[in-house]
Amino acid sequence: MLDIKITRAETLKPQPDPDTLVFGRTFTDHMFLMNYDAGQGWHDPRVVPYGPLPFELSCMVFHYAQEIFEGMKAYRTPDGKVQLFRPYENAKRMNSSCRRMCIPEIPEDDFVQAVKAVVGVDQAWVPGKVGTSLYIRPFIIATDNGLGVHASHSYLFAVICCPVGAYYPEGINPVKIYVEDEDVRAVKGGTGFTKCGGNYAASIRAGERAEEQGFSQVLWLDGVHRKYIEEVGSMNVMFKINGTVITPELTGSVLPGITRKSCLELIRGWGIPVEERLISAQELFDAAQAGTLEEAWGTGTAAVVSPIGLLAWEDRKETVSGGNIGPLTQKLYDTLTGIQWGTVEDTHDWIVPVQ
Ligand SMILES: Cc1ncc(COP(=O)(O)O)c(C=O)c1O
Repeated sequence: MLDIKITRAETLKPQPDPDTLVFGRTFTDHMFLMNYDAGQGWHDPRVVPYGPLPFELSCMVFHYAQEIFEGMKAYRTPDGKVQLFRPYENAKRMNSSCRRMCIPEIPEDDFVQAVKAVVGVDQAWVPGKVGTSLYIRPFIIATDNGLGVHASHSYLFAVICCPVGAYYPEGINPVKIYVEDEDVRAVKGGTGFTKCGGNYAASIRAGERAEEQGFSQVLWLDGVHRKYIEEVGSMNVMFKINGTVITPELTGSVLPGITRKSCLELIRGWGIPVEERLISAQELFDAAQAGTLEEAWGTGTAAVVSPIGLLAWEDRKETVSGGNIGPLTQKLYDTLTGIQWGTVEDTHDWIVPVQ
């Protein structure tokens, strides 16, 4: 149990209009900080006013990217309570990222306590309008000063938060995705299963190319065979083919999404067969052409469930579900968002109240 010191901001910022919120631009009044030093361990857990920190330019994270992060949300229920969705899963995934990147782990209970502490202090920032939420960004950076590639001896764990508007303010809009066949995101043995910043830096070029061509995100292929589907830019991906839900297995280069895990638990509970296995772009596009690809969707904290209406690969283009949201995609979206915002009963014990 952390002994968290709370220092409140003297003046509070005006809160933005939930209708015009731009993701990731406005941060709440406070942040959580905790330091690590070799020989001392994690120490000085505190909630302080949100603001800049001084760093020397030799700070290790700027050069060798020894850092990891998480992404999660707090939701306001119709009766005004604030709740988290599966925060222990974020804690577990963060520690798995830490192990790969030689960063000291944080006990799961401490992680959840830190998140609850800052969200609790800033709970007025959790918007109440349908579909809105408070995005939470926990992260750890290496803070030793000096050049030379080795594990840092000091780290900073921080949690910052920003209110986010509804992902689909005008109703769910299926996205267009294209198969990236030049750049790769990750390879087995690398860092694909972690949320380290380097993975995202390396993905920017493909994302920009996709946007230039009118697509929302790329569908990554595996880095060895350039054949098997891995995931979408910031989402895992699922396909319903001939009545079975197929999703790429977690081979080490795919991020183990918490929304993915939750969707698979729901789908299995509804008696629909699920296969976690390798699926090639060829198999997917052949199914689309044969008319057996019934639905396709991405899963992730930001959009929750995002229907895919069009898939493009080389010179092939395939419309999915007539470019509309399919029935299973809609059911998943309704069930998950219902549990997260507290309008559907949480029979899985996924919800953790903040207060
Ligand atoms: C690369 C990548 N894949 C998948 C996901 C989905 O993960 P989650 O459902 O935990 O948000 C994310 C988002 O965090 C991501 O960045």
